[in-house]
Amino acid sequence: MNSKDQIQLNKLPNHVAIIMDGNGRWAKQKGMVRVFGHENGTKSVRDIVEASAEIGIKHLTLYAFSTENWKRPKLEVQTLMKLLVKSLKKEIKTLQDNNIKLSAIGNLDDLPKKAHSELLEVIDKTKNNSHMTLTLALSYGSREEIIKAVKNIAANVKNNIISIESIDESIINKHLYTQNLPDVDLLIRTSGEQRISNFLLWQIAYAELYFTDVLWPDFKKENLYEALINYQNRERRFGKTSEQLS
Ligand code: IPE
Ligand code: IPE
Ligand code: MG
Repeated sequence: MNSKDQIQLNKLPNHVAIIMDGNGRWAKQKGMVRVFGHENGTKSVRDIVEASAEIGIKHLTLYAFSTENWKRPKLEVQTLMKLLVKSLKKEIKTLQDNNIKLSAIGNLDDLPKKAHSELLEVIDKTKNNSHMTLTLALSYGSREEIIKAVKNIAANVKNNIISIESIDESIINKHLYTQNLPDVDLLIRTSGEQRISNFLLWQIAYAELYFTDVLWPDFKKENLYEALINYQNRERRFGKTSEQLS
């Protein structure tokens, strides 16, 4: 039995989020420049998007560029933005063929014009797709997202649109970039780093965390299956006791 057959389809995580890390180290190991790693990373993106749709994951969110990544060398940032445009143009077919709706979270106004417009175009073209939602986190930072939400909620209180007492989890959810997404069930990070790097801090409150040493350009369908099987062998207790669950 291969690992795909071991996945229980009735126990899939509804929302999988991935911190795609390790492109630079992958390239370095091969004596190549970092950008070579990013180019190869896009192949893993396609593989994982296809695999997720095939299995029946409803929501896949990929951390592609953080608010902190703007601090990288200018040339690397420019290349990443060019790669984004190239991938969007190339992968629109993959999205349509698999009935995948593209979405994006982050401070999208920070993106170069070309990347921004290409992104909006693909989002628009795929808006009626319904099999899976693929969300790209671009110029995304969780703290920035929370600050924006707090400001908007405070303004609503000030303008008497809502009362302080009515502020609850659902109101906070509604003010985040992820307002249309459920909480994350499984968070995967590749490359051996075990940190969150300002990704979905509120949304991962009860996510299962899965860290693997595999570098992102080497992370393929089989690696995703392994992560899913690992997830399915965990007991998610949400504060209760094991006995209460059974
Ligand atoms: C992840 O790979 C891609 C982005 C953050 C854009 P890295 O570029 O961080 O690769 P490492 O961590 O330097 O190996
Ligand atoms: C996190 O990776 C951001 C993305 C994967 C897009 P980084 O490689 O930028 O994270 P740190 O800075 O090493 O934590
Ligand atoms: Mg990194």
